[in-house]
Amino acid sequence: MIDKILIGDTLEVLKTLSDESVDMGVTSPPYNKQENKKGWLVKNVKYDVISDKKDEKTYQQNQIEVLNELYRVIKPGGSFFYNHKTRWENGIMMHPITWLNQTNWLIRQEIIWDRAIAANIRGWRFWQVDERIYWLYKPKDKNNIGKELLSKHALMTSIWRFSPEQKNPHPAPFPLALPLRCIHSILDENEGIIIDPYVGSGTTCVASKLLNKNYIGIEMSEDYICMAEDRIKNAHKEVEIMLKETEKHKVNKTFKQRKEEGKWQNKNIEKITKKPILDLFS
Ligand SMILES: C[S@@+](CC[C@H](N)C(=O)[O-])C[C@H]1O[C@@H](n2cnc3c(N)ncnc32)[C@H](O)[C@@H]1O
Repeated sequence: MIDKILIGDTLEVLKTLSDESVDMGVTSPPYNKQENKKGWLVKNVKYDVISDKKDEKTYQQNQIEVLNELYRVIKPGGSFFYNHKTRWENGIMMHPITWLNQTNWLIRQEIIWDRAIAANIRGWRFWQVDERIYWLYKPKDKNNIGKELLSKHALMTSIWRFSPEQKNPHPAPFPLALPLRCIHSILDENEGIIIDPYVGSGTTCVASKLLNKNYIGIEMSEDYICMAEDRIKNAHKEVEIMLKETEKHKVNKTFKQRKEEGKWQNKNIEKITKKPILDLFS
């Protein structure tokens, strides 16, 4: 199953995978947008073989089951990055935390993805330019905290700024930089298998290939699988995006080294709070 995209319903296909056989995952599931969320600036999202229109309770229950299957399939100490957003139906807010808290996963971090562009520019609310990326963690040996990120990755902060993907013909792709950042930060130079249970146009698989890792994808649409396989074959054409992203993960001197060299004193704190945090590492 390595380096393959498996066709079928996510939950059913996940049930066929072995326990603790995958290192990490990244995905953006269907958002249950009811297919009526056309904004002024974006077209309606409609997938080709599956409707994104479910009763919300059924939708959330399905997501809980999918996330728990992923928990089983991913190794202890492994991570899963789950991209979603806050939605409203009839004035009621629906927050991903509601169903994430009902899964086996620990929520290690809530990352804000600043897309810088709003789908809907009406004034019912301040324009929604953010999505969320939940870093989910499967504890190992009863340790809920897990390993530290290397400084060069932690430096990416909890707000990620990527513009939405525009050239991709899939109706709802995420930008390649997003899975690149997740995978590079967790696996760094290590080998690993990455799963994307809603693979769409194969963005996570392309990121895995460019970073010399392996992948498993799941997707219901044959057309999207063809699109993804073609993209994976031509992954080298997207290498510039990978180089641009990995170039950002760089620390000239760590905080620890600066402290050891006496270049850090408490009195600096006042100055620092007025300085962009990224300057501290350059
Ligand atoms: C938000 S898109 C993922 C896009 C992907 N991240 C990319 O960059 O192209 C969700 C995908 O999940 C697929 N999908 C939705 N429900 C599914 C299900 N139950 N089983 C398998 N695939 C499904 C849709 O066909 C769609 O391609």
